[in-house]
Amino acid sequence: MALAVADAGVERKETLDVRPGPILLLGAPGVGKGTQAKELMAKWGVPQISTGDLLRYHRDHGTPLGLQAKEIMAEGKLVPDDLVNQMVAERLKQPDTTAGYILDGYPRTLGQANWLDKHIGADSSALPVIAVSIQVGYNVLLRRITGRRICPVCGTIYNIYLQPPKVDGKCDLDGTPLERRSDDTEEVFRERMRTYETQTAPVVEHYRAQGRFEEVDGDQPVSAVAAEVMAAVARLRGREAGSGAEAAETQQNRVQG
Ligand code: AP5
Repeated sequence: MALAVADAGVERKETLDVRPGPILLLGAPGVGKGTQAKELMAKWGVPQISTGDLLRYHRDHGTPLGLQAKEIMAEGKLVPDDLVNQMVAERLKQPDTTAGYILDGYPRTLGQANWLDKHIGADSSALPVIAVSIQVGYNVLLRRITGRRICPVCGTIYNIYLQPPKVDGKCDLDGTPLERRSDDTEEVFRERMRTYETQTAPVVEHYRAQGRFEEVDGDQPVSAVAAEVMAAVARLRGREAGSGAEAAETQQNRVQG
């Protein structure tokens, strides 16, 4: 499938032999899910759906959901499944998700994974989910989290140690003063990691067991990780198309035989 991508006013065409479909980016806090989601979004023109970003929007706008989520997020714990699932269901109704989407930070519990499997399974036109898990060691994650700065206007992600802006504290693209997320302290990071180990690591195993799953080393430059993630997606979708063709051939042989 050829997708036209508008990039800084210049139309660029990138090709992927199949529709991207639903892609899950899994991994601990700070592995680079958001960074990589933006790379895929630019490449294939499908939206990034970050449950963290959606929840922060609700929190910052004081919606009923945001008021319920605020304290939980500040402590590095997880917002209840039914609230998050409902929020995702609403987002997936938007027409921009037809060709595919990148789920960043969701699902994070087995309850969410089971809900998503059913939700996508109920749509006969949807491609099955594929999952890419990004791996990075604990000490690197701590540095990434405590060094992260974000542009509140355009969402560009920086890191004061690893990917600093050209001018200290200012966004390269629009000059806006960069902000630090309130949960990016060492103390909350430790709690987020505990939450990840106990509640989200089983989700990785859930998708590994389904087979449409690959792991990528996230401790490399952003472009190298992006190349590996894209190659994994192409393999996973190709494998799927291949197995579909094989299944059709087997079926035809049965009919002819
Ligand atoms: P969320 O916003 O999803 O946070 P997270 O999963 O902890 O992930 P992060 O956004 O911290 O990291 P990331 O992997 O996206 O890394 P990034 O690309 O920014 O969730 C926040 C909270 O919301 C949760 O704690 C929870 O309370 C709630 N929540 C969210 N989803 C939920 C759900 N499904 N259910 C229940 N509750 C939910 O990169 C990090 C830093 O590293 C940046 O500075 C970046 O510049 C740098 N970096 C990235 N890649 C590289 C690289 N290759 N080399 C060098 N530096 C790099």
